[in-house]
Amino acid sequence: MVLLGPSVAVYATDIVLRRNRYDGPALTDETRHSRFWYTGGVHVPGAVALGGPDLALPVGMACLGGPVHGPGAPEGVAHQRLHARSTRARALDAIVAGRDDAPSRARAGPHVARRQPSDPKGRAAVNNRETSTAPRARAEDQVRALQLIQGHMAAQAVGVAARLDLADVLAAGPMSCAELAEATGTDPDALRRLLRALESLGLVERPTAADLFALTSFGEVLRSDADAPARAIAALFTSPVVWRPWGELLHSVRTGRTAFESVFGTAAFGHIGGHPDLSALFNSGMAELARGAAQSVAAGYDFSGFRTVVDVGGGNGTLLAALLAASPGSRGVLFDTPTGVREAALVLAAAGVSDRCTVTTGDFFTAVPPGGDAYVLKNVLHDWDDERAHALLGRCRRAMPDHARLLLIEAVLPDDDGPAARLSAVLSDLNMLVMVGGRERTRREYADLLAAAGLELTDVSEPLAPTHFQVLEAVPRRAHP
Ligand SMILES: C[S@@+](CC[C@H](N)C(=O)[O-])C[C@H]1O[C@@H](n2cnc3c(N)ncnc32)[C@H](O)[C@@H]1O
Repeated sequence: MVLLGPSVAVYATDIVLRRNRYDGPALTDETRHSRFWYTGGVHVPGAVALGGPDLALPVGMACLGGPVHGPGAPEGVAHQRLHARSTRARALDAIVAGRDDAPSRARAGPHVARRQPSDPKGRAAVNNRETSTAPRARAEDQVRALQLIQGHMAAQAVGVAARLDLADVLAAGPMSCAELAEATGTDPDALRRLLRALESLGLVERPTAADLFALTSFGEVLRSDADAPARAIAALFTSPVVWRPWGELLHSVRTGRTAFESVFGTAAFGHIGGHPDLSALFNSGMAELARGAAQSVAAGYDFSGFRTVVDVGGGNGTLLAALLAASPGSRGVLFDTPTGVREAALVLAAAGVSDRCTVTTGDFFTAVPPGGDAYVLKNVLHDWDDERAHALLGRCRRAMPDHARLLLIEAVLPDDDGPAARLSAVLSDLNMLVMVGGRERTRREYADLLAAAGLELTDVSEPLAPTHFQVLEAVPRRAHP
């Protein structure tokens, strides 16, 4: 029976698709992509893919008379209809049981599964799977896939913990669920369920047998005073300003356009800049990421030879403050929009570098402060498409003296023949697509962009561990004699 399962699933799907077009209501995406597939109680992972995801699961289930499990199980009338045990279903039961009243075509063996000329696409996939020696998904793969698919749930659990300031509350020491609920203004039962999820994610633990929750060292990242914080970025990435556009990723993939504009009707930076709460959250999230990267950048690249470092689109100055702290002989110019630099004075003062740094605001598509020895753009170029990125680099080139260097700090995607890209970099690339219409780029793409703006890419650092950032160094191109 166990061995029969996959074959039965194939035949079931094949027969149903040929003879009995599914006429139920439209299936939801979840139903289509569900991977829960049982044949008479035998789990056949991956079988749903065999007959085309639209039909294989529910129709096959109906035929086999088995339950449709999982998050995408059809409801109500459709469910009833799919579960009705028709003549065909009984015929398929016969196949499962190997009885003689099974349809002869289905009993006849693999040859019935050959490609049909009249159906070059759909069922051929079923048939090819039947005879293929390609590796097949196993139960563990299904579990792994589900973990990926549940990623958004984990992200929201972490985001809610961040928004409730749970880690700051727990910083005082272990607390019972009732105490935590009181302190955070939450429902005790629901909070316990959240804590259970956070415990499984490794952020909290119950160190004693008592019902007291404590932060793990990993969970410390959610504290507002963490050395390497992720609290604001968790809150930002799970808040509607990011969450809602990501819900429209399909729109971006279909059209190549930002989902953000289709959801909010305007470009991201304008929208965020027009909402003080949002821009505070955005700046905090960017600053957290910059704080993590700043130490690596300062340790991995020597800025001490530059008298003046201009940070273009430098946000609240977190990176520049760290660079200046590591290079006591350097001065800095922080350049961003008025909302971008709103908290910069505090950040520069806290790092003790206010007296060596000026803050300038403006539009970097119009002009960039002139006269620097180094121009730093961290996580800025990736926000823009090639046309805008070219314009921005052109502004930088115009501001740069001939001896100056331009330093891009970005995730660099591997060239076509390079190693697999880091997950964080490719997800960031999708984030650029969804949110702002920019992209992550390969070394070659950066070299081409820079060349078009009169700059020559001279060096690319290794990734600055533990981040995915690399420093791409460029100089003004010498005019040919
Ligand atoms: C993704 S954030 C990066 C911030 C900072 N470099 C970092 O890595 O944390 C992009 C920055 O570009 C700034 N920005 C966007 N459009 C701008 C413009 N037209 N002129 C100046 N700055 C701009 C934003 O305010 C924001 O601070």
